[in-house]
Formats: sequence, structure tokens, C-alpha cells
Amino acid sequence: MGDKITVPDVRARKGGPKLTMVTAYDYPSARMASEAGVDIILVGDSVANVVHGMDDTLGVDIDIMVLHAQAVRRAEPDPLVVVDMPWLSFHISREDTLRNAGRLVREGGAEAVKLEGGHRRVPMIDALISAEIPVMGHLGLTPQSVHAMGGYRVQGREIEAARALVQEAKELEAAGVFAIVLEGVPDVVARMVTEQVSVPTIGIGAGPHTDGQVLVYTDLLGLGFGRYPKFVRKYEEFAERGVAAMSTFVADVRSGAFPGEAESYHLPDDVARELEGRLSDD
Ligand code: KIV
Repeated sequence: MGDKITVPDVRARKGGPKLTMVTAYDYPSARMASEAGVDIILVGDSVANVVHGMDDTLGVDIDIMVLHAQAVRRAEPDPLVVVDMPWLSFHISREDTLRNAGRLVREGGAEAVKLEGGHRRVPMIDALISAEIPVMGHLGLTPQSVHAMGGYRVQGREIEAARALVQEAKELEAAGVFAIVLEGVPDVVARMVTEQVSVPTIGIGAGPHTDGQVLVYTDLLGLGFGRYPKFVRKYEEFAERGVAAMSTFVADVRSGAFPGEAESYHLPDDVARELEGRLSDD
């Protein structure tokens, strides 16, 4: 393992070198991310869609996020581990928000939390930062607002919406977040935000001008089974390759080609013969 990445390390990357963040939800995905040298692992609430096959992210709660965070931390990853606060875990009160984030830190091993939203979240962000829990913001297309947004739509297309987005980014910065995810916004808006805040911005579907980029790891690896969003670049075709590999396994078992000699445990010939003899006498 290399050097552990910390919140101050991420904070110091404003302006470069560009930050990389991928989602991970379990031990193997965290190991891959760590060995690949990514900077930040996000235990995203996208686990709802990606792992649990749900239609949106609204179905996961703190217990589920703790479980996935624990699996990620067992990989002892070098990247900073940020865990998403799921829907309704930071909307009720400052106390409730703190209790939930505390579980992510204490039980899940989160080194920071991420929460969606702008102006209305500032009191919750303040409560967390006052308790020494680092917070990553998330603006633009915020999937937990799917019903309020009327679907997953690019945000900040009109002048007033773009202005509000820049303003909310400044409010999050003033509240003390150490980085801001910008999701599903026009590249020009992401550039404006990036230029106007002093904390790193990490884009997804936000063009090339942010201080870093994040992708859902199953998108990046081509491990999904639905339609991929426009902003995804698939660096692999794991779903196709996985189906092909499992089909070969099925064929090999049926034909007797698996398991072979090398995949079986052998006793020395004389011991095997004696054992066989005794068993057939029984
Ligand atoms: O949950 C998630 O995967 C996210 C990323 C899309 C930023 O929030």
C-alpha cells in the first residue's frame, strides 16, 4: 500500500493535479480503486441502483451505507474514503444529521461524508463540520431530488438556474465543505463555479474544466446492464466479458472439461488405491 490520502491533501489539489474519484461499494471494488491509484473512493448511494438494482437512490438508508462502507474499509484503501449520506438522513434536524454521519464515521469508517444540496443544507453542514466531520458538497443534478426535478435532467441550463448554482457553490464553500461534486451541468457553468470557489470541484457530466472527475466504477468498467449516460467513458466491457466467461464455465462443466487434473486434489496413487479398497469393503 502507498500513502494514505487525506482531506487536506484533497483540499490542496485546487487547480491541479486533477483529482480522480470513483465509486466503490465493497472489498474488491475498493481494492481495484486503491491499486489503480485513484485519489478518492466514494461509497455512493448509487449503490442502490448499481448493486441493489433499485430504480433510484431513495431506497437506501444509513444501515445499508454503513454495511458497504465497512466492506470498503476492510480493503484498507489508500484513497480518501467519502461516504454518501442517504436520502432523509440529513433532512430532519441537525441532531439527526450528526447522529447519522457519526454512524458512518464510527461504524463505517468514513473519513468524510458527502451530501446533496445547496442553501437548505448549510445548517446541517455546519453541524457536521462543528463536530469535525469533513463534508463534500454535491450540486447540480442531485439524484435524491429525482421527483422534485421531474427526472434526471441536466441542471443550470438557464441564466437564473446557472446563477443560483454558482451562488449555492459559494454558500457551500463558506459553510466549510472541502470539495464540491458538480453533476449534470453544462461545461460552461461548471467552469464558472470552478473559477469562483476556492475548493476543488469534481465533475460528473460537467465537462472538462473541473478540478477533478468522478465516475461510477461499474460504468467505467462496462459492468452495467442498462443504458449508459452520455458522459460515461467505458474503459472496459466487464459485463460482456463476464457473461462470456460464465458461458464458457457452463459449457466446460457440461462437457466434463472442468474441473481438470490441475483443479482437483489428488492423493498419492497407492494411498488412493488403499482408500478406495477400504471404502468399497464398507
Ligand atoms: O452516488 C454516487 O455515485 C454519486 C456520484 C454520481 C457523484 O453521488
